[in-house]
Amino acid sequence: MKKLNRMESALFWEERNMWYSDIWDDLKGTKQTIDEKELKRRSAAYPFLLPYRLINMYSVFGDTILDPFLGTGTTAFAAMACGRNSIGYEQDPAFAQSIRNKAGEDILSLSNNSVQRINKHLFYINNFKKGITSFNYINDYFGFPVMTRQETKMKLKFIESVRKIDYHLFRTDYLDDQDVLNMGLGKQFIDNIS
Ligand SMILES: C[S@@+](CC[C@H](N)C(=O)[O-])C[C@H]1O[C@@H](n2cnc3c(N)ncnc32)[C@H](O)[C@@H]1O
Repeated sequence: MKKLNRMESALFWEERNMWYSDIWDDLKGTKQTIDEKELKRRSAAYPFLLPYRLINMYSVFGDTILDPFLGTGTTAFAAMACGRNSIGYEQDPAFAQSIRNKAGEDILSLSNNSVQRINKHLFYINNFKKGITSFNYINDYFGFPVMTRQETKMKLKFIESVRKIDYHLFRTDYLDDQDVLNMGLGKQFIDNIS
């Protein structure tokens, strides 16, 4: 079971090559989105993709991520997008409202990261194997080609809803496997090669 979860939490081969490298030169800084001037000055939020990648690299689905300096909650939102639990500590209560606002706003758009990863992967495969119509490894779950056996059981998470359970407590639910399949991600690509 543990081994399966590890496989399901895998990265695409080309992501591994890029993410486990010394330099991430594709990450841009992030806008400090808080309205209040003083809070904005103190927040020092970092780009979402920073914790998003690290969480994907060093944990598996269902793990719990701890951020002792929560600020605007970037790490907690990244954990949500990655299908991980999270706990955050923040000494300044002024940040709480900003986090609650974010959790109530466009939280479902966090799943765009999964869609984008799939699109990038298909683009990569398309370029890598131009003209090739059969592939050694197919992902069991999405049905599209992958580069290595490690990726054949890989899944990605799509948020279905985020509910506020208590003042500082949120519950994230994810689409089940069938709902994800119904989204037809990569279907066009699969149709083209079959
Ligand atoms: C650089 S910010 C974190 C930014 C955050 N990662 C983000 O993306 O918004 C550091 C935060 O840690 C908080 N902080 C500093 N010392 C703390 C402590 N001892 N316990 C809890 N929070 C603390 C600060 O109030 C500040 O909001």
